[in-house]
Amino acid sequence: MTKQLNAIPTKNEKLVKWVQGWVDICKPDAIYWCDGSRAEYDRLCNELVDSGLAIRLNPAKRPNSLLFRSDPSDVARVEARTFIASEKQEDAGPTNNWIDPVELKKTMLGLYDGCMKGRTMYVIPFSMGPVGSNIAKIGVEITDSAYVVINMEVMTRVGTRVLEVLGENGEFVPCVHSVGKPLAEGESDHGIWPCAPMDKKYIAHFPETREIWSFGSGYGGNALLGKKCLALRIATVQARDEGWMAEHMLILKLTNPKGEVKYVTGAFPSACGKTNLAMLIPTIPGWKVETVGDDIAWMKFDDEGNLRAINPEAGFFGVAPGTSMKSNKNAMLSCAKDTIFTNVALTDDGDVWWEGIGYDAPEHLIDWKGNDWKPGQVDAEGKPVKAAHPNARFTARACNCPAIAPEWEDPAGVPIAAFLFGGRRPSTLPLIYQAKSWEHGVFIGSTVGSEVTAAALDVKAGTVRRDPFAMLPFCGYNMGDYFKHWLEIGKKGAAKGNLPKIFCVNWFRKNAEGKFMWPGFGDNSRVLAWVFDRCNNAGEYKDTPIGVMPTENAIDLAGIEDEVSKADLAELLKVDVEGWKNELAMIKEHYKKFAGHLPAELAQQLEELEARLK
Ligand code: OXD
Ligand code: MN
Repeated sequence: MTKQLNAIPTKNEKLVKWVQGWVDICKPDAIYWCDGSRAEYDRLCNELVDSGLAIRLNPAKRPNSLLFRSDPSDVARVEARTFIASEKQEDAGPTNNWIDPVELKKTMLGLYDGCMKGRTMYVIPFSMGPVGSNIAKIGVEITDSAYVVINMEVMTRVGTRVLEVLGENGEFVPCVHSVGKPLAEGESDHGIWPCAPMDKKYIAHFPETREIWSFGSGYGGNALLGKKCLALRIATVQARDEGWMAEHMLILKLTNPKGEVKYVTGAFPSACGKTNLAMLIPTIPGWKVETVGDDIAWMKFDDEGNLRAINPEAGFFGVAPGTSMKSNKNAMLSCAKDTIFTNVALTDDGDVWWEGIGYDAPEHLIDWKGNDWKPGQVDAEGKPVKAAHPNARFTARACNCPAIAPEWEDPAGVPIAAFLFGGRRPSTLPLIYQAKSWEHGVFIGSTVGSEVTAAALDVKAGTVRRDPFAMLPFCGYNMGDYFKHWLEIGKKGAAKGNLPKIFCVNWFRKNAEGKFMWPGFGDNSRVLAWVFDRCNNAGEYKDTPIGVMPTENAIDLAGIEDEVSKADLAELLKVDVEGWKNELAMIKEHYKKFAGHLPAELAQQLEELEARLK
């Protein structure tokens, strides 16, 4: 018998039946409906500390903050175990892992059978987006991980207020999660992160029935199902069918010295500094950047034809290593309190440390695996041992970010003036250029790529990993059809006359000596200022074969002349015709994958670019 820890707080019959169905399958010892209160959050945190799974950090250093160490096999999203189980394989397309949904459900039901024995099943009603916004969506996640509950309580809006909006007949996206480690009678985790072996992990999406089933991992996007699973993979399918956009984009508010405001979104592949850009501190006087979101944007046209965006999340699940007061002061301040850290190192005085935090490691730490660690430590093969895992994370509340825009929770969303696309491109791509038209912008988005090094992945150095719209692991259907959806949105927006302008940026150009040519970080505000002006059809520009580019006087270099000379800027803004010819060949190869699903408009954009470069 499953013990009911609290009364069922909803009369939504579909929800109650769905939960009961999963209780019968997973056979938890107890069931608990989350109310989303602070008292509940604090109680679960205490239970996690008492069970040995979490360490409470020194309140004088990090008030209300916990540290978790995951299993070394469960440290990141597992793309190889992430599936789009559409009825037809073609609908998952060439960029997703596909399994037949009937077969997958059979396999997974076998795994779910009795998987929560010895554990509590938590029911988490959550809203992606401000509760009640007409752009927001409701999901309900059931999970056997209290770690997941507290993370969801930071990353989304959880509990009673969501059930009120759901009402008796409201729709929700059902999300099932289990760490996949049942406990025998009297057994406990003994403070060890529970998860299942890699070949038993499944992060499954059923786009036709809008369901998410996740098994075997407790980490990040595999387990916090509101984020990548709902807000991107399932939401892209809903957005396609309902005529809106679910994008892997930051949202920032840019204010110029005159006090005029523009909202800009940006899509960048993972690990390209998206959170840093969303929280940037401008180095040009009089400009201000405020944060609306750092990872995901949901956008819908309003009655006036403005594309309005909300951030469906309520927190940041940021990568800790590399985050410092210099690279991202606002992120550092966001995680100064009320934060859940995972896989960072622990200092002797109960604080956290990671590589790239901006100051040297103390003489002794406990590393992310729970072992003693000293600066300069090497493993048996003489390789440096990292104190924090490279994908160590902080889960921080958006409301604790000093740069959060006051309107970040406006249910109506903010009107978007510009989209930025970019990746790490040491060569060829200039610092910035603007698309000539919406179709040209969609072409740019569809060809986003980031250069990988041989050290990072098992591929040839200099290879560009194409990551269209930074959505490669996040699009819930055929990517070629997703390109088509972007073109459709353009037609819809053009009819109303107020489409955002589209730009491509590249902060990562290197010179012949392999040194970065652009300082990046706060100095990216110099490029944003030109974007702002172009949104007013102002700013000095020239037309080039690849798009509209700033003249050399259009980017303000005052104060960084020592780092970026006029000649460097000229190089950063040059059209490298030879490089582009090579780029065209790579794009042709990339486009081949989409076969009959590649929209004719994009093939035409490619042809036109080729002709312009001749
Ligand atoms: C993320 C990602 O964690 O894009 O946001 O991988
Ligand atoms: Mn992301």
